[in-house]
Amino acid sequence: KDVAGKTAFVTGGASGIGLGMAKSFAGAGMKVAIADIREDHLDQARAEMADAGLANNAIFLTLDVTDRDAYEEAAQQVESALGNLHVLCNNAGIGMAKSIGKASYQDWDWAVDININSLFNGVHTWLPRIRAHGEGGHVVNTASMAGILQYSGAGIYVATKFAVVGFSEALRAELAPEGIGVSAFCPGGVRSNLRDYEATRPGRFANAQQEDAPSGPPPGFNFSEDDLARLQSLTASPEEAGEIVLQGIRDNALYIFTAPEYRPGVQQRFDAVMRAMGEDAARTRTAQDLIPGLVG
Ligand code: NAI
Repeated sequence: KDVAGKTAFVTGGASGIGLGMAKSFAGAGMKVAIADIREDHLDQARAEMADAGLANNAIFLTLDVTDRDAYEEAAQQVESALGNLHVLCNNAGIGMAKSIGKASYQDWDWAVDININSLFNGVHTWLPRIRAHGEGGHVVNTASMAGILQYSGAGIYVATKFAVVGFSEALRAELAPEGIGVSAFCPGGVRSNLRDYEATRPGRFANAQQEDAPSGPPPGFNFSEDDLARLQSLTASPEEAGEIVLQGIRDNALYIFTAPEYRPGVQQRFDAVMRAMGEDAARTRTAQDLIPGLVG
């Protein structure tokens, strides 16, 4: 896919991975609307885009992706400033690495609202517009390696990110006949402000007793200093992540990964699924005739 001259909308675009995407997109000759809930991140993003000589290709909007009315207004603003929108990046997310057994209703509702519901808000707002202009389009949903592999102690995050992968696969199948692409972006570690998420917790999701955002490795892991240093060496920069996403859009990739070191874990997971299913060739053939979409 040729991206030059196209327009992208990146949620959570003022920090970390979203900003990395915005830089790559603008660098490739796209126009980018950077939407974020945090003013301080937006200020920082303005400065970084200007330093990179990319400010002319970008606009900046304050948006809470869980606010549907505000989302509609943001879309109108983007269209009047930049014209038709082609690439939607549902990237805003919070890194709530809490275990399911310890989380509150508020934790769960908030994580689901941002990490899952916002994807639907984005698609519901933008898809009719992409269909209407007929110039093609692409949706990138930022999941995580935690959308493919669970990691202990972070059940809330894992559950939301598995949902992002399922949402992406289903939407891709839905939109393929219209020539609109969809990718599930599953990064491994990327340097960002992801663990600073408590700063934006709205009052309606406040916990009765205020907790601090967890710092350091997620609960359930006990890394030595050496392990942490080795892990750090595997962590990508937001700019590297941005370039990988740009390539994924060009290739209309279903999955976009940054971290091949997770291959053995993924292999184990799918091996376990296959072992648990067993095999019955006759049943498979019958099912294939009846429900081709489900079987392959
Ligand atoms: P980040 O915290 O640096 O960036 C996320 C941005 O989203 C922030 O600027 C934040 O203000 C914004 N945001 C939060 N709530 C919002 C809302 N309601 N409306 C609009 N914007 C909102 O973190 P990062 O790491 O760049 O995260 C981006 C995405 O990447 C997230 O979905 C995260 O789950 C995912 N991810 C990150 C990984 C990492 O290692 N950094 C690994 C795998 C996935």
